[in-house]
Amino acid sequence: MKQLIDKLYNNQTLEKEEFLTLLQQYEDKELSEYLHSLARGLSEESFGKDIYLRGLIEFTNYCKNDCYYCGIRSGNKNADRYRLSKEQILECCEVGYNLGFRTFVLQGGEDLAFKDEILVDIIKSMKKGYPECAITLSIGERSYEQYKKYYEAGADRFLLRHETANEEHYRLLHPDSLSLENRKECLRNLKKIGYQVGTGFMVGSPYQTMECLVEDLLFIKELEPHMIGIGPFIPHKDTKFADFPAGSVDLTLFLIGILRLMNRKALIPATTALGTMDKKGREKGILSGSNVLMPNLSPITVRKKYDLYDNKICTGEEAAECNGCLRRRVSSIGYQVVEKRGDYME
Ligand code: SAM
Ligand code: FES
Repeated sequence: MKQLIDKLYNNQTLEKEEFLTLLQQYEDKELSEYLHSLARGLSEESFGKDIYLRGLIEFTNYCKNDCYYCGIRSGNKNADRYRLSKEQILECCEVGYNLGFRTFVLQGGEDLAFKDEILVDIIKSMKKGYPECAITLSIGERSYEQYKKYYEAGADRFLLRHETANEEHYRLLHPDSLSLENRKECLRNLKKIGYQVGTGFMVGSPYQTMECLVEDLLFIKELEPHMIGIGPFIPHKDTKFADFPAGSVDLTLFLIGILRLMNRKALIPATTALGTMDKKGREKGILSGSNVLMPNLSPITVRKKYDLYDNKICTGEEAAECNGCLRRRVSSIGYQVVEKRGDYME
């Protein structure tokens, strides 16, 4: 089996059947340690021991969509909705800047109250206040023209997970108003416009098979994104998937290792979902090939309301506390948090 990992290391991809055979071995400890040691080596070649921070500003939990897995889906009448004002968003940036963050991620549900003019004004104000910082959007599906407007206003990057690259699986996770084809079209448009683009998927989402994961890997190979975010699916009590099991931490880590071997320069976060499933999940993510962390910068008053899945961590701490905690975690494993934008480098 190590030969497959060596082949992946050398060719940056595998045949479909080979990926499947490899994934099926994710519980083999010796094999996964071999994979992760190669992945760590590649991360170190590209980034040294540097870990980049992205300050996450969860600016709205209103959403017009009803993704079946998501705690803030439109159909969840128990969700306590909120929106941040431009002033509140800028305050988050100020706190983040003073803590050394040089990337801000505006993430939210698909909230139509944030019309284009409002978003453009927010992006421009962030850019004006913090010209040396990168702005990442994670606001879901929009038209080419809309994405272009935000780009021209100063947005640099965009995160849009494809969620699953298998049509049938996509249908089981989403209502008919959403389509995989449109999601992929959005990703292609974002690339065309010039954004640094991130995509990704949940590991262990309901009805996912190993074959689905192979399709995810092949889709990512084809798209060549600059960033790849994956994390375990975690059930939310107010969704129809409440009783489904959460995704496996070991499989998530194995996939992070595979993705690093496939994409040496990609920015790969160790996600909050990984940290929620395992106290040391984010450290393990870094030791498996990740090089990015995304601490929460949202005001403490709204953190619990951005409730995508049950038991989400870091909802009770101030940004400064999270920052200190993460820095300690990173240095405990021999890495260091750096005060850099952390752009994709060819
Ligand atoms: N609305 C934007 C979008 O669709 O890209 C951004 C917000 S959305 C909540 C961000 C990500 O949260 C999704 O891409 C999804 O993968 C993840 N997510 C949602 N529900 C989740 C769950 N129950 N477990 C793990 N991740 C989840
Ligand atoms: Fe829209 Fe989750 S359903 S953000």
